[in-house]
Amino acid sequence: MTQDELKALVGQAALKYVVPGDIVGVGTGSTVNKFIDALAAMKDQIQGAVSSSEASTVRLKALGIPVFDSNEVESLSVYIDGADEIDHQGHMVKGGGAALTREKIVAAQSKQFVCIADESKLVDALGAFPLPVEVIPMATARVMRQFVAMGASAVVRQKDGQPLVTDNGQHIVDVKGLKITDPVAFESTVSQWPGVVTVGVFALQKAQVCLLGTSAGVKTLNF
Ligand code: 5RP
Repeated sequence: MTQDELKALVGQAALKYVVPGDIVGVGTGSTVNKFIDALAAMKDQIQGAVSSSEASTVRLKALGIPVFDSNEVESLSVYIDGADEIDHQGHMVKGGGAALTREKIVAAQSKQFVCIADESKLVDALGAFPLPVEVIPMATARVMRQFVAMGASAVVRQKDGQPLVTDNGQHIVDVKGLKITDPVAFESTVSQWPGVVTVGVFALQKAQVCLLGTSAGVKTLNF
């Protein structure tokens, strides 16, 4: 199976975690796009979605799925999202699609985080994928120096020759060469650096379930 087919497989499999009558939390990315496409078949059974990005909002609305503001919804039964890396404890690196801040917000209001990913995303330790960190632009140089002092290298993510601007009007720093041996401690520390909006380690809010697309079918990992 191709990677795209594996993404479609887990996108479809995630439907069983959607609670009829509820509002569902929806992440961002190519795997989530498969989930949104599958969710269209259930749109009459749910109230709608809370979305983690402008891109997912556009896709949801195009399929006729109502999108609620996060502030209008006290709690969600489930949040479905992809990952750039997930370890065997359910800790993730996220933000390859630059939506990490809203993803963390929607994850925080959800009772269960269901990660959907193809098998290439499962890792023994986080850190091979460049870690996305959303940063207030006036702090990027100092935040990058802090990562360099940890032995890593950092660049400001570009789009069309300019720093990429997130849905929240901030920049993304991508950090290479980190060894994240204690994801909870790492997330707690970097989150406190002045100017950091969100670090792409999701360990304090890790996944409870991962639906992993493999050539042998969907494997369910519970954490
Ligand atoms: C977006 C994300 C995505 O979930 C992550 O990048 C995985 O994306 P894809 O499903 O396209 O591989 O965190 O900010």
